[in-house]
Formats: sequence, structure tokens, C-alpha cells
Amino acid sequence: MTVWVIVVAAGSGARFGAPKQYERLGGARVLDRALADARAHADGVVLVVSPDRATDPEPAADAVVAGGATRSESVRAGLAAVPADADVVLVHDAARPLAGADLFARVIDAVRAGAAAVVPTVPVADTIRTRPDGATPGRTLDRATLVAVQTPQGFDAAALRSAHAGEPEGTDDASLVEAAGATVVLVEGHAANRKITDPDDLAVAEAFLARSDHPRGAG
Ligand code: CTP
Ligand code: MG
Repeated sequence: MTVWVIVVAAGSGARFGAPKQYERLGGARVLDRALADARAHADGVVLVVSPDRATDPEPAADAVVAGGATRSESVRAGLAAVPADADVVLVHDAARPLAGADLFARVIDAVRAGAAAVVPTVPVADTIRTRPDGATPGRTLDRATLVAVQTPQGFDAAALRSAHAGEPEGTDDASLVEAAGATVVLVEGHAANRKITDPDDLAVAEAFLARSDHPRGAG
């Protein structure tokens, strides 16, 4: 089976205050780590960047394409550059530098075993409430029923292409494939595989990297 990975790096990093995927982390750019994890198990890697960076050399990627105004548009731009004969397509946030190659293998294996959509998840640490809405105060959700969803997310290539055909919008791809009727399979995520969203998240990633017992650490 042919496996391609789309690494989405076209965001502006509004909450971080800069395109965080280009920040340095332990001697490499954040996105270099995402690309290296992708490379370890993929036949090909498409990197999606902002239009002004689309001609910058990125030797770790097989193709570099310009993204869109939303994450879903950027995924579609990447999907257009994935060869038609790809069987499995993974989508990964460039802003997740510590996923690790083992997590890519886990996701790919689950798609190879027949899943249309695969997401890595981790337990939720905080109790989560819905927002107050008008006169409704919102409510507390049962934490035991919740998980947090990470990337890389893996898909049967045809299911992912079909889910994106109507140009839907979502914060991830599994929710789009699910809305198109597929069942999402969960695999174990990785506590260190946090998305860098705010500047504090970069400091946390540095701490994970410095830990010698961490698989991606200095040791
Ligand atoms: N992304 C993208 N194209 C967009 C928006 C996001 O390729 N139009 C990518 C980001 O570069 C990131 C991933 O999607 O790797 C997850 O998005 P997020 O963490 O929200 O990054 P940003 O959109 O850049 O950050 P913010 O929402 O704070 O602006
Ligand atoms: Mg965003």
C-alpha cells in the first residue's frame, strides 16, 4: 500500500503571535520535526505552506504547495498534490513537533487493517463544560466519556478525497470523514504530542525534548 502524508503548515499562528511552525526547537524548526516523523514511514510527503513561502526550498518534502485561508482548504490543496495511486493518506499538523515516528506507524497500521479514518487520542485532564448560551448556563460533560484528538490522522485515500469533495470546513479531517458516513477508529496518542498553540506550548515542548527518558528527548 502506498502511504502519503500531508503536513499542513500554512497557518498564521494568530494565538502564538507568529507562524509557530517556523520557530526553533532543539536545533531544528518545529516543522522539520513533523516532516521527519512523516518521512520515517511514508512513501511521499506533501508540505502545505502559506503562498509567500511556496517557492522556498524544503528538501524533506516531495512537493510543496500553497495552502488556503482555513485548515480544511490547506488540506485540500495538499490532497491535490497527492498522487492518484496513494492508498493511505495521513494529515499532520506542522505545529506538532513531538508526535514521533511510532505514532505514525500505529495510525498507518490501523488504516492498513481496514479503517476508513484513524485518530490518535489522549485522556482529557480538565473537566469540560459547554459554554453558557443566552439564558442557558451550559453544563458539565462527563469527562470519562471524552478524549482529546491529535494528529497524524490516517485515512483510506478515497474516503478522505470524497469527504473533502464538497469543500466542507472542520477543525480536523476525521470529523469531515465521519460526517460523510465513515466510522472513526481510535488509537492511543502520545502525551508529548501537543499542538503548539501559545508561546507556553513551545516551552513545554522544549522541556519534553530535554527529558532523556522521552523517546524524542536528548538521550
Ligand atoms: N493550518 C494551515 N492552513 C490554515 C490554517 C492552519 O495549514 N489556513 C495549519 C497550521 O499551520 C497548523 C495546523 O493547521 O500546523 C493546526 O492549526 P492551528 O494550530 O490552528 O494553527 P494556526 O491556524 O496557524 O494558529 P491560529 O489558529 O492561532 O492562527
Ligand atoms: Mg488555526
